Amino acid sequence: MQTLGSFFYISLISIFYISPFSIALIKYPVPVTRRGLTSLKQTNLNREPDPLLDSIKIEVDPNLKFENPRLKKAYVALQEWKKAMISDPYQMTKNWVGPDVCLYTGVVCAQAPDDENIATVAVIDLNFGDIAGYLVPHLGLLTDLAILHLHSNRFFGIFPPTLSNLKLLFELDVSNNHFSGLFPSPVLAMSSLKFLDIRYNEFEGQLPPQIFDMDIDAFILNNNRFYNHLPKNIGNSPATVLVLSNNKFSGCIPRNLGQMPYLEQVSFANNRLTGCLPEEIGMLKYLTVFDVRKNNISGPIPKSFENLKTIGKIDLSCNQFSGKVDDSLCTLPRIWNITITDNYFNEIGAECDKLIKDHKLVLLDKDNCLANKLDQRPEKNCSLALKNPVNCKTIGCQARDHVDLKNRKFPGPTPKVQNPSPKTTPTPPSVRDPPHTPKPPPLQQPTMTTAFNDLILPPKTGS
Ligand SMILES: *[C@@H]1O[C@H](CO)[C@@H](O)[C@H](O)[C@H]1NC(C)=O
Ligand SMILES: *[C@@H]1O[C@H](CO)[C@@H](O)[C@H](O)[C@H]1NC(C)=O
Ligand SMILES: *[C@@H]1O[C@H](CO)[C@@H](O)[C@H](O)[C@H]1NC(C)=O
Repeated sequence: MQTLGSFFYISLISIFYISPFSIALIKYPVPVTRRGLTSLKQTNLNREPDPLLDSIKIEVDPNLKFENPRLKKAYVALQEWKKAMISDPYQMTKNWVGPDVCLYTGVVCAQAPDDENIATVAVIDLNFGDIAGYLVPHLGLLTDLAILHLHSNRFFGIFPPTLSNLKLLFELDVSNNHFSGLFPSPVLAMSSLKFLDIRYNEFEGQLPPQIFDMDIDAFILNNNRFYNHLPKNIGNSPATVLVLSNNKFSGCIPRNLGQMPYLEQVSFANNRLTGCLPEEIGMLKYLTVFDVRKNNISGPIPKSFENLKTIGKIDLSCNQFSGKVDDSLCTLPRIWNITITDNYFNEIGAECDKLIKDHKLVLLDKDNCLANKLDQRPEKNCSLALKNPVNCKTIGCQARDHVDLKNRKFPGPTPKVQNPSPKTTPTPPSVRDPPHTPKPPPLQQPTMTTAFNDLILPPKTGS
């Protein structure tokens, strides 16, 4: 286990110093510091035989000499992959020739996790390569791979099933490519995975609930075409970052989101979510950013939000919220930006107004139903909406369109009639004690915004 820990340590060190393309590692301050580099399990090394992988022939030119059999397999994998690359405008793979795979651009070798005497491929980093192509089954031969970074390329198609052999993969970043199809199921078998970034692709369908039972620390799934309800087991996930924005998720935010023990930043922005916010969100004791803008969520801000001692930024804009922005929210110790634009709020606490005047709080409140505020909705619209207040207990959580229901494969949220007695008093999440007890990050206002701005991709490099 010691060697395994040091293997990852080494591979990460080397990527910091060797790879000029290591973007994902330095881009996200939160997950990086949380990555439990030494907590990987030895059990991952005992692999089940995979007939698909075993059927791949490892035949190479007998004149080529390899340092060890793993590097020979890696050679086969990388050569096959190179053949599946249709365009490589920066010639990233130009030097992918010959048996010395550890010298290939974007490939980093390290000591094997289970044998310190041999080198093996630990990292592939082709970030910003603009390479067009697809992933070949042979990539499953890279069974020691810890990091795969393919951010900002033009890879398309699906993940070959053999990728489920990447049991040591720790970081998977395929963001800003053209992958499509359902959520890539080989990911479900990547038992060491901590960091999953598949944003800006064309994945569709529903999220498999299993991902929330994995030990993944960061889910960055925004700007895909995922739809349907959010899995109800979301609360099982130890993730600190959950970004699901710009998809087509429908239904309610599951109550047990509040049980995610370490959640710091969550965005559901620009989906089709309905219903009310569950009171359980108040249990998220490390939450710093909460973003549900551009959905169709109604009802009040849950009372329990007054327990969010670490929250800095709340964005509820472009929904159907109503009720009051309470002083208990505005006076939270770290809150600095509450955005409620385009809702039906009709009251703001006196203390809130004072903090705004003193420039201690940003509260963007346009297009609501607030008396004595500028740029509010027409009286008529407000009185109509406020005449029919939302009852969160009966509002239900139905899917919005027929297609969603048809494709549903796992049980949806609790039907309307079965109203579970709402737990209004937040109880501490019943979770195992973390080996690395997360501390709330120090408050730095710029970091809170940048944390999310970082999730907006830079324009593609190149001409
Ligand atoms: C949003 O949800 C409300 C019910 O809460 C519904 O009446 C309304 O039609 C929905 N709006 C849109 C734009 O779907
Ligand atoms: C507050 O948050 C909103 C919504 O995310 C954003 O548009 C606005 O620029 C933020 N205000 C400041 C001062 O950062
Ligand atoms: C007010 O309501 C009308 C009719 O429902 C709608 O067309 C209009 O866009 C609304 N205006 C605002 C500012 O919400």
